[in-house]
This record gives sequence, structure tokens and C-alpha cells, in this order.
Amino acid sequence: MSAPAPPAPAPATAPALALENVTSGYQGTTVLRDVTLRVPAGGAVALLGPNGAGKTTLLRTVSGLLRPTAGQVYFDGAKVTALPAHRRVRLGLCDIPEGRGIFPSLTVRENLVLQSPRGREKQTVDVAVEAFPRLGNLLKRTAGTLSGGEQQMLALVRAYATEPRLVLVDELSLGLAPLVVDRLFEILTAMVERGTALLLVEQYVTRALELASEAYLLARGSVVFSGPAADLSDADVFEHYLSIDVGRDTAGQADDSGTPRRAPDE
Ligand SMILES: Nc1ncnc2c1ncn2[C@@H]1O[C@H](COP(=O)(O)OP(=O)(O)OP(=O)(O)O)[C@@H](O)[C@H]1O
Ligand SMILES: [Mg+2]
Repeated sequence: MSAPAPPAPAPATAPALALENVTSGYQGTTVLRDVTLRVPAGGAVALLGPNGAGKTTLLRTVSGLLRPTAGQVYFDGAKVTALPAHRRVRLGLCDIPEGRGIFPSLTVRENLVLQSPRGREKQTVDVAVEAFPRLGNLLKRTAGTLSGGEQQMLALVRAYATEPRLVLVDELSLGLAPLVVDRLFEILTAMVERGTALLLVEQYVTRALELASEAYLLARGSVVFSGPAADLSDADVFEHYLSIDVGRDTAGQADDSGTPRRAPDE
């Protein structure tokens, strides 16, 4: 008797990431409510919103550090909602969290090797140094002794050299000089040009919108705008959406009472 046919492979057009009606948060606190979001394969998406909107919580839900209480998460069309974080890494997810996501007590080389696919350690280091020669002089340095910008570069280069399917980046440029931020955005751009999908949380909104083709705006854990990044470049529109959250508190309390999604209709 033949075994049942395996599930059909996901179509080539499946988005790199899809969140379907995801509700998520921390014990006793719902943060994200009914969030639906897609990052096209090889596409760059900016995730914007005021402090406390839930951007980091969304990225943690994608990386598997938080489990949604409702809804589903898909990578490349495959459901990963219940998959632990390390299994998602094996599927090609690279998470660059707030505060860099490197191992400060290890050397630069060790950081690269540790994140490399097995058997490709030397290649990973070579690709990183070739693309970013400055790192070549720093390979033996303890990562924690690098400057803030160098640490971010290491975090990004690690992603660049391991060619993930999807990179999550949270506040990469925080506290860095504009020139360093320029360099980091060059690396991000190179990654996207090579076909890596990107979900970017970034305080430099203009830069994020230049890099991204699509943008989502979160306020109080709900998506209040999604569409072409160019549509959000309009300062009036952007301020309008931001004012939803920074303005006076009205119906949408950030509690568990089922915040209605606010229509951008004023
Ligand atoms: N570990 C946690 N436990 C409980 N609540 C948390 C935790 N981390 C964040 N929160 C709450 O979840 C909400 C969303 O926080 P989150 O860090 O996702 O926002 P954010 O959009 O990333 O903000 P920022 O722009 O300041 O980084 C906030 O109200 C925050 O206080
Ligand atoms: Mg955050």
C-alpha cells in the first residue's frame, strides 16, 4: 500500500514570511492583536510605529521567542507557528535583535564560525572578510571590545555571509554615527539585492522607506497602515498615523479588552 502523498511543496511565490491574524504578547499581556503581515520572497519590508507599539514583540514572535496565542506564522509557505526558535534558524531565519545579537565574549572569528552553516565555516569567514575588509583586521578581537558600529557590522556581516532566507533587524542604527549608519544600510541593501528578504525596524524612517518596497505601521499592537513604502513617505500621512498613538488616549487601551482596529479615517 502506498503512503499518502506528501504535502505539495509551497509555490515558488510563497512569501518569505507571513503572519496571519497573529495575537501575541507576554504572560498576561496581549501586545499584538490580529496582525496580518507579509514579507515577499527577496523583498524588503519596513515595520514602523511609535515606542511601545509592538515592533520588537512582532519580531520576537517571528523568531520564535514568543508563541502567538492566536493566528499562524509561515516561512516560505510552511507553517512554523509552533516551531522553536532554533529550528526557525535552520530554515533560514536570521534574527539581529535590539542590542546586536553577537556573543561579546567570543572573538570576531568565533562569532562568524558559530553562526555559519556546518561545514562552511571557512567560507563564511572568507566571504565576510572579502565583503568587509575592515573585519579582516578584527578577527582575533573579542567582539565585546569592538565599537558599537563595528559590533553592528559584525552582526550584519554574519547575516550577509550565511545567506539566510529572511533577516529580522531591530533598531540597527540606535546610537550610531550617521556615517556608520550609511555603511550598515549599504550592507542591508547588498543583502536585499542578493535576494534575502528583510523585515526592518528602524528609527531612521526615511532610510527605512527608501530601502523597503512595502511598509507596515503598527500602533498599539495593530496594523494601522500597510502598503507601498512610497505611500508612507508623505510626511502628512506618516504623522497622521503616528498621531494615533502619541495623541490623547481614547478607545484603544493597550489591555486585553479587545482593542478595535482603528480606521485611518480622520
Ligand atoms: N518582556 C516583556 N514583558 C511584558 N511586557 C513587555 C515585555 N516586553 C515588552 N513589553 C510591552 O509590550 C509592549 C510593546 O513593546 P515592544 O518592545 O514590542 O515595542 P516596540 O514597538 O519595539 O517599542 P520601541 O520602539 O520602544 O522599541 C509595551 O507596552 C511593552 O511595555
Ligand atoms: Mg523595540
